[in-house]
Amino acid sequence: MNTPTLSTPVCLGAIKAPNRIVMAPLTRMRAGPGRVPTPLMAEYYAQRATAGLIVSEATAISQQGTGCRNSPGVYTDKQLLGWRRVTEAVHQAGGRIFLQLWHMGRVSHPSFQPDGGLPVAPSAIAPRGQVLTENGMQPYVTPRALKQEELPGIVAQYAAGAQRAKLASFDGVEIHNANGYLLDQFLRDGTNHRTDYYGGLVRNRARLTLEVTAAVTKVWGADRVGIRFSPGGVFNDMHDSDSLVTFSHVLHELNRFNLAYVHLIVSTEDDLRHGAAPVPLVALRQAFDGPLIVANGYTYATATQALAEDLADAVAFGRLFIANPDLPERFRLNAPLNQPDESSFYGGAENGYTDYPVMGSQLVGR
Ligand code: FNR
Repeated sequence: MNTPTLSTPVCLGAIKAPNRIVMAPLTRMRAGPGRVPTPLMAEYYAQRATAGLIVSEATAISQQGTGCRNSPGVYTDKQLLGWRRVTEAVHQAGGRIFLQLWHMGRVSHPSFQPDGGLPVAPSAIAPRGQVLTENGMQPYVTPRALKQEELPGIVAQYAAGAQRAKLASFDGVEIHNANGYLLDQFLRDGTNHRTDYYGGLVRNRARLTLEVTAAVTKVWGADRVGIRFSPGGVFNDMHDSDSLVTFSHVLHELNRFNLAYVHLIVSTEDDLRHGAAPVPLVALRQAFDGPLIVANGYTYATATQALAEDLADAVAFGRLFIANPDLPERFRLNAPLNQPDESSFYGGAENGYTDYPVMGSQLVGR
């Protein structure tokens, strides 16, 4: 077989992606009141429809799962209708889009929770740091440890989110198991000190991930379900005594599902300097039999190299897709890239969201 490039089509389960350039999930904090996706969000995603696959921004599966201002949800009918506008716009523009299913667990705040209660987590361990609430930055609180009998309810929240995503005409869903949110909190022993069936040995810590995967694949069929991990990541005050063992185990266990893909946030040199655990991509690639998407700091050159070395089947780009709605075309032509403006990443309106120029418009403007 010829060496694949970023422009080579690829099958991610049932998804026939015309290229290997995935748009990474990106929280932009621009949902409307009631966490309802807006027409502006539909425009933003449709602008990026030439991606092989778009993964939506992280989207709360329940009010309990929220904890971020102006991020969207998928637990009310209004949210579902808002998302349908987004998926229709992306499909009309020829694209494919998965919804990222999100429960934030302990990195929430009582002000976001039903009845102002405590955020939930595997164990009552507060993250260090602060959370942005409607009243500015507040220290994290100590969360409430979920009782074992509550866990089927958590699995049901993911299944309900998956079901609503289907009704909203997404092409599939990605389970957010990365970046220190609820499922990552269960998986890693820095945040999971449970002594029951869901804590202790990695086999137990991975149980909720596998139960959620089973429930979500039941709704969609496994070939339209992906899952995202951040092995070694320290964002949201995460750590694990042996990330390689933890993530090799869970990837190995996921082989039985035949998922559309696994999506890994790899650790960059900079992440390692800031305390991330080194988890060799080669080992994780070997542990998982299906399609693998990698992300974090990739450029055209490093992504091309990762494909050539068979370390991945596709590469996700985050910040480059924020700034370049026509990223696949720019890569194809080796054209200059717009630079992302960090000050408009989170919140606001069109500025830094839907107003990044595409190539043709820049040429016309010259
Ligand atoms: C992110 N990232 C992220 N990851 C995720 O799984 N769900 C999300 O909602 C978000 N939100 C988000 C917002 C913004 C503004 C940034 C910059 C990042 C992480 C993202 O998907 C990706 O892994 C990183 O951006 C690293 O890839 P790049 O940007 O170096 O290509």
